[in-house]
Amino acid sequence: MTSTQNTAPKDPWDLPDVSDLVVGVLGGTGDQGRGLAYRLAKAGQKVIIGSRAAERAESAAAELGLGVEGADNAECARRSDVVIVAVPWDGHAKTLESLRTELAGKLVVDCVNPLGFDKKGAYALKPEEGSAAEQAAALLPDSRVAAAFHHLSAVLLQDASVERIDTDVMVLGESRADTDIVQALAGRIPGMRGVFAGRLRNAHQVESLVANLISVNRRYKAHAGLRVTDV
Ligand SMILES: NC(=O)c1ccc[n+]([C@@H]2O[C@H](COP(=O)([O-])OP(=O)(O)OC[C@H]3O[C@@H](n4cnc5c(N)ncnc54)[C@H](OP(=O)(O)O)[C@@H]3O)[C@@H](O)[C@H]2O)c1
Repeated sequence: MTSTQNTAPKDPWDLPDVSDLVVGVLGGTGDQGRGLAYRLAKAGQKVIIGSRAAERAESAAAELGLGVEGADNAECARRSDVVIVAVPWDGHAKTLESLRTELAGKLVVDCVNPLGFDKKGAYALKPEEGSAAEQAAALLPDSRVAAAFHHLSAVLLQDASVERIDTDVMVLGESRADTDIVQALAGRIPGMRGVFAGRLRNAHQVESLVANLISVNRRYKAHAGLRVTDV
């Protein structure tokens, strides 16, 4: 092999095969989790929905079909390679703290948007750690934490009549190997593309941007997504 080959930069679109990974979704009985579970399972991924109550997860999984299984959040975390966190911000810290052991060694993908709502609409909250993703990283020292899937519409994700969801998924994390995995997962869903968008210290802006998207949706009666141009 020549030195040119050794030093050639890796093509950022050269992503790993993730088809064998088991994806768990904590809070997978909710709109966002159920929608992600549906899309990933439809793309051929093995998916396990998690819930605080195993029966709720089992019944959500049975409704989805596609080989999706349901379990309590702890078993979901234990059995999965990649674990998406799709619980409300209110329950975020408590849920992750209680699953520290089960999530050790796992790739944890946070999609939580800390938002407040008042009569003027949605607004971004400011978590003490900087962002939900950084809170996850602080609470889960033995896990690999990434952040993604914040800007997806749960309505579109769950709508079986929608075949493609044309949007980019901003993926953040500390390890390229991990963000590559998450980008590859996003890319399995027709119309979606995972785009690397920086380290977790920049997750706050990505999480907060959902407040703007909610304003867009209200004004234009839409389910807006995002495209990053020129990449
Ligand atoms: N909805 C969207 O369009 C969307 C888009 C992007 C990102 N997100 C993010 O995804 C997350 C989930 O959104 P969602 O709309 O799906 O929320 P949700 O339906 O209110 O909650 C999701 C699930 O979390 C569990 N849960 C509720 N309260 C909890 C608590 N205190 N502790 C632990 N688990 C709790 C519930 O499942 P069990 O009762 O079965 O445990 C519930 O079904 C949020 O953080 C949101 O910011 C949402």
